[in-house]
Amino acid sequence: MTTIRSVVLGCGSYLPEHILTNAELASRIDTSDEWIVQRTGIRQRHIAAPGEFTSHLAIKAAKAALANAGVDAQSIDLIVLATSTPDNTFPATAVSVQNGLGINHGAAFDLQAVCSGFIFALATADNFLRTGAFKRALVIGAETFSRILDWNDRGTCVLFGDGAGALVLDAQPQQGNTSDRGVLTTHLRSDGRHKMKLYVDGGPSSTQSVGHLRMEGREVFKHAVGMITDVIEDAFKATNTGPNDIDWLVPHQANKRIIDASAQKLHIAPQKVVLTVDSHGNTSAASIPLALSVAVADKRIKPNDLVMLEAMGGGFTWGSALVRW
Ligand code: UT7
Repeated sequence: MTTIRSVVLGCGSYLPEHILTNAELASRIDTSDEWIVQRTGIRQRHIAAPGEFTSHLAIKAAKAALANAGVDAQSIDLIVLATSTPDNTFPATAVSVQNGLGINHGAAFDLQAVCSGFIFALATADNFLRTGAFKRALVIGAETFSRILDWNDRGTCVLFGDGAGALVLDAQPQQGNTSDRGVLTTHLRSDGRHKMKLYVDGGPSSTQSVGHLRMEGREVFKHAVGMITDVIEDAFKATNTGPNDIDWLVPHQANKRIIDASAQKLHIAPQKVVLTVDSHGNTSAASIPLALSVAVADKRIKPNDLVMLEAMGGGFTWGSALVRW
């Protein structure tokens, strides 16, 4: 039996030039390098320059992914861009990316699921490719969270950074089993009862302003490990695989303690976990494709490796994707 799979042709990323260290933050607000490293694993984050927008980061990441895939922008007929920090309320940042890449066919739209955005965008693109509606997709996670932080709130401003990452997915016939290349399974969840635990206190319909990120960190932390392990177990169950079968876990990079605890609970060996939270901070929807790009560039992730992706964030939203590279 053959089936259509969304096969990864390449990935790429972009980080703004300016690096903000913990020491620099400690000189401005009541925090310390020691507290930030111990509680989160973060040592630095990148911050977009004035006038550098989410679409600018996304276009650079998309161009890097297209070059890595060795395909022309004109072959792309679908762009799904995950972001919670769009350039404008509308139009979608994805159409700026489409225009920046010189593409004027197919479809481009944004998707908003906060830190789980990349998994939701990947699942959406995968479903469109598998039905035959589109042939080749750019899936992008791009954020400028520095623009929605309250820089006087030490409980949140030390955690986040800016960046973008992208994957090129191609619809290809495969055998229909777990040795196939491509996206093997995706699992998405949301529970709006938790919507006020991590939110932005502004928006066009409510305040006619952009607002700032607010978070009950301890509450988010409390739910994170259970939600992450549940959706990873769903992916294992759906594909009849387990922790020993996967080559890499590429998690959303929010907090090293959450990542370590999730891997430990699932019996995933620490050496299989790709960690970038130390150098990128939490870049929300961009964190997974940024981490993938790092592990592909340094040749940890190779063709045919089995890669588990997971994320959890505002909403709450959470999800997993199992991909054979
Ligand atoms: O990506 C979306 C999902 N988001 C997350 O996954 C974030 C989940 N939450 C977390 O990662 C953690 O809860 C935080 C890193 C945000 C906080 O770590 P924590 O171990 O939960 O600390 P806490 O909030 O319980 O705060 C402990 C103490 C408090 O002081 P008291 O009340 O014990 O005196 C805070 O005021 O640490 C204090 N604190 C700080 N101290 C120095 C909070 N932020 C800072 C800071 N520097 N930046």
